[in-house]
Amino acid sequence: MPTHSSGHSAGFGARYRADDGFATRAIRAGQDPCSATGSTIVPIYQTATFTQDAVGVDKGYDYSRTGNPTRLALEQQLADLEGARFGAAFASGMATVLGACSLLRAGDHLVATSDCYGGTYRFFVDVLARWGIETTFADTTDVAAVRAALRPNTALLWIETPTNPLLRLADLRALSALKRPGLVMAVDNTFCSPYFQRPLEFGADVVVHSTTKYVNGHSDVVGGVVVTNDETLFETIAYHQNAVGAVPGPQDCYLTLRGAKTLALRMERHGANALALARWLETRDDVSAVYYPGLVSHPDHELAKKQQRGFGGVLSFRVRGGAARAREIARTTRLFNLAVSLGGVESLICAPSEMTHKTVPAERKAELGITADLLRLSVGLEDVEDLIDDLADALDATAHLVLEEAVA
Ligand SMILES: Cc1ncc(COP(=O)(O)O)c(C=O)c1O
Repeated sequence: MPTHSSGHSAGFGARYRADDGFATRAIRAGQDPCSATGSTIVPIYQTATFTQDAVGVDKGYDYSRTGNPTRLALEQQLADLEGARFGAAFASGMATVLGACSLLRAGDHLVATSDCYGGTYRFFVDVLARWGIETTFADTTDVAAVRAALRPNTALLWIETPTNPLLRLADLRALSALKRPGLVMAVDNTFCSPYFQRPLEFGADVVVHSTTKYVNGHSDVVGGVVVTNDETLFETIAYHQNAVGAVPGPQDCYLTLRGAKTLALRMERHGANALALARWLETRDDVSAVYYPGLVSHPDHELAKKQQRGFGGVLSFRVRGGAARAREIARTTRLFNLAVSLGGVESLICAPSEMTHKTVPAERKAELGITADLLRLSVGLEDVEDLIDDLADALDATAHLVLEEAVA
């Protein structure tokens, strides 16, 4: 079994107790004051190499690809927030997906959520396939469909819940009952963050995040993390982390560590703002559908109440007036920036069919319901009245396009 020279478990310093609450742990886990200087804040160890006392005698670090104290603090913090013992940080969410897939070998089979993130879909279809790993995409809202997709050589079940952009949920507890020896269940928890959902508590073996989104929360770092309680799985992933070297630099680790300290506060506000906007959108008759798990009308609302502690900050909606109106709304909002990504303090709007899911083949998008009249919002932390006014202005200013569509 491969080993990793800095494969540390989450630290439990003097100022930290495992039964402390989430917000406390976000500020304390992995972040004891520096024992050498007393520095209260974890320093940015901007170094590639570490000077050794004698040949083979170091202070726990030798080279920053293998391990770096700022990165370790982040890994410990995020592992702790997910209720995990081990964490490995990567340079992007996609590098993290690859890190989790290092558990696979040629000839293995993978079952994945059919409407998973477009980049993950591309990686499975274009990269893993060339490496001899075949993927079957399944509707993970349907446990029977997932069971039917499993093969004797299925080694990984890849779940995204809620999905992007239609926010459908997978029942993690029910899916984990499909596990058998040799089958690992991994959950991409990017949309909920560990504040709203902790998949390890529902039977997942591995959790991944694009920390680019809610975990960092300020849209200024691209990164990712994978966490697990299973030491054997962790050793393989940590070996890959060092061997492949897609690691985040210390500055990015520091910013992400800092961002995650306020995760609890931010998620509460993201959730409250998104719920208010979703309810408001439902009252508009020029909006034909609103997708948000916090709405009673959402097909997975009851499941969301069972396995999540909140409903998240992303919602999607369809506008009457078709693609032309959707494009015009996306172009004209004042506060919602027209941009991909999500999870930052600022609100964003995007047209998934032409932006985040551009690379997904057209017929597949049609099957999934990712059509050109669909808009996705990442609801930020601004005053919700301002956000509602902004959307109201954009919808009202484009109302004539609803009539034009009806006439055509
Ligand atoms: C659910 C999900 N997983 C993974 C990724 C990939 O993360 P990154 O862009 O940090 O590589 C994204 C990016 O949007 C995502 O939304």
